Amino acid sequence: MPPVLETRDLTIRFGGHVAVDGVSCAFHAGTLTAIVGPNGAGKTTYFNLMSGQLAATSGQTLLDGDDISALGAAGRAQRGIGRAFQITNLFPNLTVGENVRLAAQARGRAKASLLSLWSSHRDWIAKADHYLEEVNLSGVRDTLAAALPHGDKRKLEVAIMMALEPQVFMFDEPTAGMSVDEVPVILDLIRKLKADGTKTILLVEHKMDVVRSLADRIVVLHNGRLVADGEPAEVIASPVVQEAYLGQAPKAVEATHG
Ligand SMILES: Nc1ncnc2c1ncn2[C@@H]1O[C@H](COP(=O)(O)OP(=O)(O)O)[C@@H](O)[C@H]1O
Ligand SMILES: [Mg+2]
Repeated sequence: MPPVLETRDLTIRFGGHVAVDGVSCAFHAGTLTAIVGPNGAGKTTYFNLMSGQLAATSGQTLLDGDDISALGAAGRAQRGIGRAFQITNLFPNLTVGENVRLAAQARGRAKASLLSLWSSHRDWIAKADHYLEEVNLSGVRDTLAAALPHGDKRKLEVAIMMALEPQVFMFDEPTAGMSVDEVPVILDLIRKLKADGTKTILLVEHKMDVVRSLADRIVVLHNGRLVADGEPAEVIASPVVQEAYLGQAPKAVEATHG
């Protein structure tokens, strides 16, 4: 099967600094790939390049075999690249429910004919309700997004991405800043997406236990370069990962020493 998403020699320079350096990698439908590496390795920048938030200095991004390198973020979102942001990206003065409904509506518009738009208003609300329930936010449907605590904002971002019904789901440290009891909600959701078997899921995550339990494959970035790529157990045990994580996640390193 051809990959859904692929990068070829993807590179971006910020002045003299090469943040993503010739990364070639392909992602397939029905798989969850964890992208790991120390802080500053280029993980978020790699996501920004694939989702079109940043334009590459050189190299290509392909979606379903088409070169989408010239497309911006909106065009790529339209083509099915979904991104839950590390930095909050909501309509703060709209309610939680409205934020998700707008996403469902945007998705509906992309798919629907003009005639069907009228009849689908109810569907958008139903869809928004469905995704709110999935992230456990039904109870705050009528709260302004701006008033949500941090963890709920992160959950709302995930609901918005789901309502856009993308082909590719990109999660950049989705549980960062969440309280312990909120984390399983997001992880269960990602697990459910994965169980669907048709989505292409990319996950940047620091917690190695989470990576181990969710990933089919681990890609390691270090200094902007792809330095390891393979089965989780194999990659976690590799010297390059232990080196990359020294001082970063000593527990993960110790664990692989047995
Ligand atoms: N817009 C930017 N301008 C200049 N440097 C940047 C920019 N975005 C990221 N960087 C640099 O690129 C490197 C990779 O950053 P990032 O992708 O955020 O790493 P990670 O997500 O792996 O922690 C860092 O050195 C960071 O300072
Ligand atoms: Mg990052």
